[in-house]
Amino acid sequence: DSATTAERRPIILAHRGASADAPENTLAAFRLALDQGADGVELDVWRCATGEVVVHHDADTRRTAGAALRLRRAPLRELRALDVGAWRGGAFRGERIPLLAEVLEALPGAIVNVELKAERLPDLALAAAVARVLHRAGAAGRCVVSSFDALLLAAFRAAAPAVPRGLLVAEGRTWRLRAGAGARLARPDALHPQASLVTAARAAAWRARGLAVRAWTVDEEAEVARLARLGVTALITNRPAAALAAARRAAG
Ligand code: G3P
Ligand code: MG
Repeated sequence: DSATTAERRPIILAHRGASADAPENTLAAFRLALDQGADGVELDVWRCATGEVVVHHDADTRRTAGAALRLRRAPLRELRALDVGAWRGGAFRGERIPLLAEVLEALPGAIVNVELKAERLPDLALAAAVARVLHRAGAAGRCVVSSFDALLLAAFRAAAPAVPRGLLVAEGRTWRLRAGAGARLARPDALHPQASLVTAARAAAWRARGLAVRAWTVDEEAEVARLARLGVTALITNRPAAALAAARRAAG
């Protein structure tokens, strides 16, 4: 998705799926995102204790399942026993933590932004594990891999140099330092900034460096319009239907 769409609007990526309307990082949320018109999805991954690449945001399951299993310490069998849908309503009861491989299979042709998650010490083996999953699924050509952790992103570059990489940056005192050092380490093709960091001057500077820009998390119409006018590559949103409509209006 390094170019914008044929409609000349930013690509719409659903943040953890259509997570305003469905439980984040579940097949239900990913399918709903595509039903709402998203071009693709953003999702978060960990390598669990038995080595499989699983889709979940937090380092443990307390918020999504009520019981806290640490993703990196739990075997797949225990993680799969959890219900990560019910907390968002009875209609979603029975949603399970998906494998990355299952999401790729369930969303043929969709763009998938795989965010590599890390605790303070990154699990560098996650990079090679994700590369294997993407290649086995034949999905390397439609995926973008991102991380806040530049070391993890550099490890992914070594494992799958042809898959585009996005360096995530969030607001805060150290973002410039992190962006600079991270870019030297991981040599990303894109910056994935928190939306508030995207000014006109920075968007132009990043474009001049050949970087794609995928901004998160963009849910308000005015912010969609502002970023669309700045020519960002993609918007990562919890509300893909609304973001798509606003991006189309901004494109005229
Ligand atoms: O990839 C964009 C965004 O998901 C980064 O933050 O915490 O929602 O994974 P987080
Ligand atoms: Mg994420």
